[in-house]
Amino acid sequence: MTVCGITARTGRADVVDDLLNGLKNLEYRGYDSAGIALQNGDGLDVYKRQGETGDLDADVRRRRPSGEIGIGHTRWSTHGAPTDANAHPHTCCGGDVAVVHNGIIENHDELRTELEAAAHEFTSETDSEVVPHLIEERLAAGDGPEAAFRAAIDRLEGSYAIVAMVDGRDAVYATRSGSPLVLGIADDGYFLASDVPAFLEYTDRVVFLEDGDVATVTASTHTITDSDGAMIVRTPETVDWNPEDAEKRGYDHYMLKEIDEQPDALERTLEGRIDAERGTVDLEAFPPGSFADVERVQLVACGTSYHAAAYAQRLLTHRGIPATAHRAGEYAETANTLEHGTLVVGVSQSGETADTLQSLRRITDADARTLAVTNVVGSTISREADDALYIRAGPEIGVAATKTFSSQVATLLLLAERMAADVDGAGSDDTSAVLSALESLPGNLRTVVDNTDAGAIARRANGRESHFFIGRDVAHPVALEGALKFKEITYEHAEGFAAAQLKHGPLALVTDDTAVVAVFTGRHDEKTLANVREVQARDAPVIAIASEDSHSVVEAADELLPIPDTEPELAGLLANVQLQLLSYHVADLLDRPIDKPRNLAKSVTVE
Ligand code: F6R
Repeated sequence: MTVCGITARTGRADVVDDLLNGLKNLEYRGYDSAGIALQNGDGLDVYKRQGETGDLDADVRRRRPSGEIGIGHTRWSTHGAPTDANAHPHTCCGGDVAVVHNGIIENHDELRTELEAAAHEFTSETDSEVVPHLIEERLAAGDGPEAAFRAAIDRLEGSYAIVAMVDGRDAVYATRSGSPLVLGIADDGYFLASDVPAFLEYTDRVVFLEDGDVATVTASTHTITDSDGAMIVRTPETVDWNPEDAEKRGYDHYMLKEIDEQPDALERTLEGRIDAERGTVDLEAFPPGSFADVERVQLVACGTSYHAAAYAQRLLTHRGIPATAHRAGEYAETANTLEHGTLVVGVSQSGETADTLQSLRRITDADARTLAVTNVVGSTISREADDALYIRAGPEIGVAATKTFSSQVATLLLLAERMAADVDGAGSDDTSAVLSALESLPGNLRTVVDNTDAGAIARRANGRESHFFIGRDVAHPVALEGALKFKEITYEHAEGFAAAQLKHGPLALVTDDTAVVAVFTGRHDEKTLANVREVQARDAPVIAIASEDSHSVVEAADELLPIPDTEPELAGLLANVQLQLLSYHVADLLDRPIDKPRNLAKSVTVE
């Protein structure tokens, strides 16, 4: 069972470099173990091992293999330890079928029992290994490779993206059901991958495969058929991501690069969407009136995207639109009955998060409309929801989400304004003021990233036993996000709280060894200041994130990370960037693997 990155390459005399490069580019999807298989004209060669793709790269280069067609995989294990044996590609008993898989095969126990009874020997603990044995079984029964591949896939239940090679055939066979898979069309052959950044430096022409598609890809041709074998024509799309956006460009870490590029990302998010003078929002596919029938909104998401959803809940409520935010993994248990007029908004950077997708799938029969807010054009969520709204942040490689949070919140603010204008009786107090503050947001973010003292404060704050993040209203989800980022990349203890909740329990934990980070937006500041005084009375040092114009906050705080003065609804976004930088610098001081925190992966495609 795996969440991971798949890649395949055809069309060059030697595909090894491109395969290894693709795996390096996909490492954010998993980095427990990695492997490649090559068709070298003389059988299939498989190289796989525990560890990061860099370890595999070194091994492979030492052994200098070559091949004209290859498949590769980088793994994030959820079942079966990250050992050499459990690494992909997996092969069949005879070694002439190699397979990489992303997803989960739910009926693998039953298939394994059946295959073992037919004398197949398994060498790993993974669910994925049933696939090469199933293909081998059909080949032995006389099927050709493509027919054997189809017959094997027909037996699978669960979610998967699979790419397979059969010895002696200059082709790869690929399919998907519930897990992402994209075909890249280059001048000199083809790529298959879980995500576009795997091959973005070679081509921007892609076909996003759909569930049930079977692609047969050789060095110079590709065909796509449906599960019955009928030909399908899928027109290639051009992705507008810049290959340089997916590179580190001299930064030590993708995370810092992605924090720094937030002003540019936001400019793309907002481009052409705001007319501050007239107080109007233009959301391309959603002309005025598109949301006139919306009576309430439920936002569903995971992790950082959940925090963006919780932020949006406040933005909608401020505008008189009833809204609730739900953690996707819990949505089935907590969602109210979906009455007519409910808009369910799935927020997902990747558009592939299984918990979020399942939440939306659960309500497809109900009388509710679904909208995906995502960064990835062609992602599963964008295709499964009734409509999609893109945040246009560009590729995000660091496992910790940064720029996409800012672009999600900005997009959701535009959506809230559009809805407020569409829905009778609802409306922002001052749309023009909010929209012109949005226009200034990229510049204000630049001020934060160019002038931050987060590095110096990180040096002084580092070493505390615990870190509490507090805020109210939109600053509450920002506090939760600050704590998530902090624990995720520093491995230090951190918790986020609604500021008012501290005195109802968590205050018992506060000592002089608890750093308290308090987020101020210019709204309800006096109340949060009272909470700050409560922790200071217990000797906890306080780092405030606030405008320098908030004199009472500046005076009370032990340390200040300033943000430019702006509308309170946007101050949370500026504060969040300071929190990202604080986490980054503490993690850097502690020498953590910032772009690849232990046990995590960027895209979690299992529930
Ligand atoms: C945290 C982080 C995760 C993701 C979560 C949802 O830094 O990146 O918490 O936010 O896994 O992912 P998406 O937005 O792709 O659905």
